[in-house]
Amino acid sequence: MQIITNRVTLVGAPDPKLPYFDVLMPTPYGTTYNSYLVRGDVKTALIDPVQSDKIECLLRNLKAMKVEKLDYIFCLHTEQDHSGAIIMLCDLFPEAQLVGSAKVAELMEFHFHIPRGKFQIVAEGDVISLGGISLVCMPVPFAHWPDNTMFWVPEERVLFSSDLFGSHYAPAVASCPDKAVQLLEARAYFSEIMMPTSTHVARYTAKVRELNPAFICAAHGPVWFEPDAILSEYELMVSNKVRRDVVLAYVTMHESTGRMVQVLADELCAEGIRVSLFNLGDPKRDLRVTLGSVVTETVNAAAFLLASPTVLGGPHPSAAAMALMINAFNPSLRFMGILGSFGWGSQMVKQLEGLTARVKAERLEPLLLRGLPTEEGEEQIRQYARELAGRLKAIPEEEIV
Ligand code: FEO
Repeated sequence: MQIITNRVTLVGAPDPKLPYFDVLMPTPYGTTYNSYLVRGDVKTALIDPVQSDKIECLLRNLKAMKVEKLDYIFCLHTEQDHSGAIIMLCDLFPEAQLVGSAKVAELMEFHFHIPRGKFQIVAEGDVISLGGISLVCMPVPFAHWPDNTMFWVPEERVLFSSDLFGSHYAPAVASCPDKAVQLLEARAYFSEIMMPTSTHVARYTAKVRELNPAFICAAHGPVWFEPDAILSEYELMVSNKVRRDVVLAYVTMHESTGRMVQVLADELCAEGIRVSLFNLGDPKRDLRVTLGSVVTETVNAAAFLLASPTVLGGPHPSAAAMALMINAFNPSLRFMGILGSFGWGSQMVKQLEGLTARVKAERLEPLLLRGLPTEEGEEQIRQYARELAGRLKAIPEEEIV
């Protein structure tokens, strides 16, 4: 629990031991399911329930705040990590009026079987007054679901931003987060939650900058008491600008692809290009951790390369998983390349190209070598690296971070 202002208190639940969000996204610092209590002169509102298994923590906090009655329960987003406890809360606070956008009410009907008629529907600019303090509705569709909704409290300059600006980070003491970790986790969060809809997110970020909030209360992670830090980070991440860097993810089984990657990385480095290298076959790391790290590294990166051996005529399954992830998260790359090795025949390039069809980056000519690279093969790889370096150096300065 944490007091944010005289009228706003964080009453949600930490989940510090959560290893993966959505059984996919690594959460080394756990997460929080934030719920906020807003007290007006006349009425009291709760912003977002919590995940169903965390209701005890929410109820404990409400009891500590001596809350006996809720006038409103605001639902900013239907996804179960925020709304899972809704049915239980409605039973415990039967007098509370549910508030949400039409899209929230629609999705609530499907996910929780709550009739739409139970909601007081609000739209852009609608105001609900609690007495001396009011909540203004600001829908932010596709940040990241179609129903995400922000609420703005002009009297206190508090923004409840739903998933936008969130971070998966449950600090040991809620009021004392490590700011560097918070920003790092916010960047990882952006890459795996917001990047697929970054065009929308860019618009919302500009809108929030104009609002100039004093506090941003997101649905995950610590409250932003100095919003400029997260707004500046988002402005960079949605800017479509790039670093002249290469992110290179690879799998190798018998060192043919491994040797290709080594020669390629060495030559790129010799050309002055920074390479972030990720081994998708690292036995010491869960594949999800490496996949997540690659996705985060592609934010503002100019080039992504995927290298794989051929397995049963296609890519190694770990490379295929990587391709699916890049396709889904869709970073603003300038260049993308597929390379690798084969023994006697391969459909690997064709299959990986199919799996990454949504990525808009310019495609580099695939580079496929048979077996362990020969001297001639290594020279082909160096040539590939020099050409890529040349293209990266040719990106206009105004497009560079
Ligand atoms: Fe944190 Fe989209 O739920």
